[in-house]
Amino acid sequence: MIAPDPLSPADAREPRPARTGTLRHDTVPMRLYHEAKRLGAWDPRSLDLRRDMEEWARFSVAERDVLLRLTVLFQAAEESMTRDLLPLIMAVVREARLEEQLFLTTFLADEAKHTEFFRRVLDEICRQSGDLQRYQTPSFRRLFAERLPDAMHRLLADPSPAAQAEALVTYSLVGEGVLGDAGYHLFSTALARGDSMPGFREGLTHSQADEDRHMAYGLFVLSRLVAEAPEVWSAVSQRMEELLPLTLGIVSEFFEAYDPMPFGLSLDDTVQDAIARFASRWAALEGARAQGKALAGAVGTERTIRDLLGWVGEQLQPAPIEVRREVSSPVYTFQIGLPLGASALLITQEVLAQHTSTDVIAALRANRVPERLRAGGRTRLTRLSARGKIIVQPPE
Ligand SMILES: [Fe+2]
Ligand SMILES: [Fe+2]
Repeated sequence: MIAPDPLSPADAREPRPARTGTLRHDTVPMRLYHEAKRLGAWDPRSLDLRRDMEEWARFSVAERDVLLRLTVLFQAAEESMTRDLLPLIMAVVREARLEEQLFLTTFLADEAKHTEFFRRVLDEICRQSGDLQRYQTPSFRRLFAERLPDAMHRLLADPSPAAQAEALVTYSLVGEGVLGDAGYHLFSTALARGDSMPGFREGLTHSQADEDRHMAYGLFVLSRLVAEAPEVWSAVSQRMEELLPLTLGIVSEFFEAYDPMPFGLSLDDTVQDAIARFASRWAALEGARAQGKALAGAVGTERTIRDLLGWVGEQLQPAPIEVRREVSSPVYTFQIGLPLGASALLITQEVLAQHTSTDVIAALRANRVPERLRAGGRTRLTRLSARGKIIVQPPE
């Protein structure tokens, strides 16, 4: 039987069941989501660019050209990244990863603001409204007009873990992590003199901070994918190997037009830098792969908690539920009812890591835990280490 597609038009007309679980505020995507709301609230339109406009004329012709070239490439790349993120969001929606969906709403809005910001710099500081495509070199076009949209759009037909990993390597690791990072480094070297171009620099600081969150998310998902399915690793490493020459091509084509390079920028340093960035992203993923078992355990725990939230929520409807875990505590507390925590289900980390949600639910059912929770009070699940049995306390 073919599983129903949650995004098909027929299903979209059906009323959807309400989610009974709660939001997991302690997960990486939710932490990034809250950070985005607090720190990502900046408006490219509010930047004061008056001094920047005056100072632009003081740069030499070659300096203006290199700043313009870099801004054009950023603007084009941000436009691609705004346009091509949606298939990834759809893949996350299909898998009902609600916390990630919430973060991705901020991610997409960030990319839109980056597109707007670099366009505003082109229009108001560089005063360039004509066709700037001449700055887009062959390698740049291959990555941002072919490889990136292809990898992202493929997710609409094939949202498999390997396809998601390849999309994230292209978008996040290479696009944001290596090239974006290298570009910000070039900007900060070029604009390092005194306190020139304050509005431009302020916008760059904001967009770079946004990119840090995007990369943290990309690495989070990639680590999970690599840890969950061993075959994902070969897709990831193959894609990294394919994209390294293209990345270095973009860097050297950027420098080709200048001799000498303005602002003391150097091709060798930038290439070395890009390779170092590549190596560090790769090392981070290899670390995730090495810790695969531990991470897979954590992912399994997350899943069990989500299943339990759904099941307990169904049993106790309409009671509100929240899961808490104090830092470094081995116990997860499901606080249930109003006032929140009128009753509580305490489950040790070991139970969640070593048993499937089916086992845990069977133990809860056999011990009439929903009825006991409805009546108020606390129930605790521990694991008898020697025999791997789930113990429900207090006994009935
Ligand atoms: Fe961006
Ligand atoms: Fe980004």
